[in-house]
Amino acid sequence: MPSVDPAHVAIIMDGNGRWAERRGKSRIFGHRKGVEAVRNVVDACGRRGIPYLTLYAFSSENWNRPREEVRLLTELLFTTLESEALQLHENGIRLRVIGDLSPFGEKIDRTVREVQELTRANKNLNLTVAVNYGGRWDIANACREIAVAVKNRSCSLSEITEQAVAGRLSTADLPEPDLFIRTGGEIRVSNFLLWQIAYSELFFIDTLWPEFDESCLDEALKSYRRRQRRFGKSGKGL
Ligand code: IPE
Ligand code: IPE
Ligand code: MG
Repeated sequence: MPSVDPAHVAIIMDGNGRWAERRGKSRIFGHRKGVEAVRNVVDACGRRGIPYLTLYAFSSENWNRPREEVRLLTELLFTTLESEALQLHENGIRLRVIGDLSPFGEKIDRTVREVQELTRANKNLNLTVAVNYGGRWDIANACREIAVAVKNRSCSLSEITEQAVAGRLSTADLPEPDLFIRTGGEIRVSNFLLWQIAYSELFFIDTLWPEFDESCLDEALKSYRRRQRRFGKSGKGL
């Protein structure tokens, strides 16, 4: 039985829209409420000494939503990032953003780079936010980089190993997630961290993201501690 808590928790924060619709409110109201849940879970992970937290904020498929929701949601994401930057820094949190930021323009790109730079040396919690992220996008990028390396002869075919791929993913600096949580009741991974979750423990909870709190996190951690992670071994003598 693992006696330790996960070093890396990854979360698909799902259910904002339904949470709002059930209250007769617009979906963006749910996304705003979702930001509060993010603050709470970041604090809770910090207090529990979990060193890595990765959050799925906007997927590469979320562009398929109505234009207005996409506009408001991406605006909310980047204004929150900007307004929370100093607080994150004061709390010793290192922030990384993964995903394709090119559609958002130069200003957003600069802001993200500045916040990453500001918080680079922080050690309390590594917070990674996935924006316009897709697991397939991540793997395809790694393949492209390897192809370029092969073409310019800095990588031979025999050097195309699992480590070579993992080292070119956007999460190359992070350990693989130990615990993968999805809120909102759906039992799917929706193109999040596909390569990285090969051996993650999965935890699905019906709670909609705006209602995800410390007790839900503890429920997930409790479930995680009961798992026997075998990584292909027989289970005897672990
Ligand atoms: C998750 O909530 C947040 C994002 C995908 C950005 P949803 O907006 O998917 O909420 P539901 O699943 O429709 O309730
Ligand atoms: C996954 O949720 C993406 C994020 C939470 C950012 P979705 O609500 O977009 O996923 P599907 O459409 O239910 O698979
Ligand atoms: Mg959803």
